Amino acid sequence: MADLQINRRLIMTPGPTLVDPRVSQAMSNQIWGQFDPDFTDIMDQTMALIRKSFSTNNRFSFPIDGSSRAGLEAVIGSIVEPGDDVLIPIIGRFGDLAVELAQRAGGNVHTIETDWGQVLDQDQIIAEIKRLKPKVVAMVHGETSTGRLQPLDRIGKAVRQIGGFLVVDCVASYMGTPVLVDDWQIDAAVGGAQKCLSVPAGITPITFNDRFAEAINQRKRVERGVRSAEDADQEAFITSNYLDLTQLQDYWSPRRLNHHTEATVSVYGLNMGLQLALEEGLENRYARHLRIHQALNAGLTALGLHIFNEGDHEMPMVTCVEIPASLGDGEAFKAMLLKEFGVEISSSFGSLHGKIWRIGTMGYVVEKTNMVNFIALLAAALLTAGVNVDTKAGLAAFNQVYSD
Ligand SMILES: Cc1ncc(COP(=O)(O)O)c(C=O)c1O
Repeated sequence: MADLQINRRLIMTPGPTLVDPRVSQAMSNQIWGQFDPDFTDIMDQTMALIRKSFSTNNRFSFPIDGSSRAGLEAVIGSIVEPGDDVLIPIIGRFGDLAVELAQRAGGNVHTIETDWGQVLDQDQIIAEIKRLKPKVVAMVHGETSTGRLQPLDRIGKAVRQIGGFLVVDCVASYMGTPVLVDDWQIDAAVGGAQKCLSVPAGITPITFNDRFAEAINQRKRVERGVRSAEDADQEAFITSNYLDLTQLQDYWSPRRLNHHTEATVSVYGLNMGLQLALEEGLENRYARHLRIHQALNAGLTALGLHIFNEGDHEMPMVTCVEIPASLGDGEAFKAMLLKEFGVEISSSFGSLHGKIWRIGTMGYVVEKTNMVNFIALLAAALLTAGVNVDTKAGLAAFNQVYSD
């Protein structure tokens, strides 16, 4: 049988990111059955860790098996019923994903948009909420496609005043910058494993509050083979079985509803990733991301590159760099950087495709030596491609801002 050859890489994309070896180690343990009491203890412990990670007291804080869009689809598909008005502020590609998911759930979607690279004013969003009175407002906190952090701390209050529900995609911002679910009155939030938490993709932490639970339970349906007397047979029910939060909540609770076969190994990885993050301390973790982001911006600028919309609501975990004109759409350079130098960065989508590269500084990769390596390798590749950069100035600027 052929060997599986996995060469070393420096992954500097906005997900997936490099994984802490302690997470990989945790995932190499033996499989446990999903109802083994030792495993259900780990489930309970993992739920407690998820609560802390989202700064919430929500009892329903558990992971969904699948990448982050599975979490988004579970949340949106469980709260949005056919014909419901849904307001979605769009600042990039993942706003469009929310539209896609809400439409697939039968929602009547209304949008407010701005140019990619900008954020929306909270007052403008609040005015639309008051005007439309939607049942659900779904928005993206960290818009990875444009590198923008959408302010949303005042949206939850406005949504609650009209009796609606605020759903937030915190996939990329989670564990890299504050996501204060209770303080911001977010009704349901979806985080990401393979981004600032640095856990392999395939599991997604989510949280939702009791009023959200009450609303989705109006459409609860437990499949016949595992139904019990207290499970009413609703006429209107959530259409997905796998991503039905009402059944998942019953699996992640003392009822231990026999729903799916849990990916126990992914839960070990998530549990370890969360333990490591909380041991570091959330504030320290956020500060680490910000400090590296500022130093990297300085380093790249001193090399001779331009940061896209610098200072304008930048995400501290995604650096957007304008592609030098001589490199066309930047795709050939990006491929060369990976093949010749083992470094992976990302392009973008839509109107920003061919204009910017996106450099992810998320979780485990975010430390000085990785960044120094990255700047040096990027500079070497740019010089190879005929772009005149000042490597010495780039490294010096990084070091100076990092040490300040
Ligand atoms: C903001 C945001 N939302 C949603 C997703 C989708 O996540 P996944 O690819 O894990 O399904 C991503 C992934 O890049 C993202 O950055």
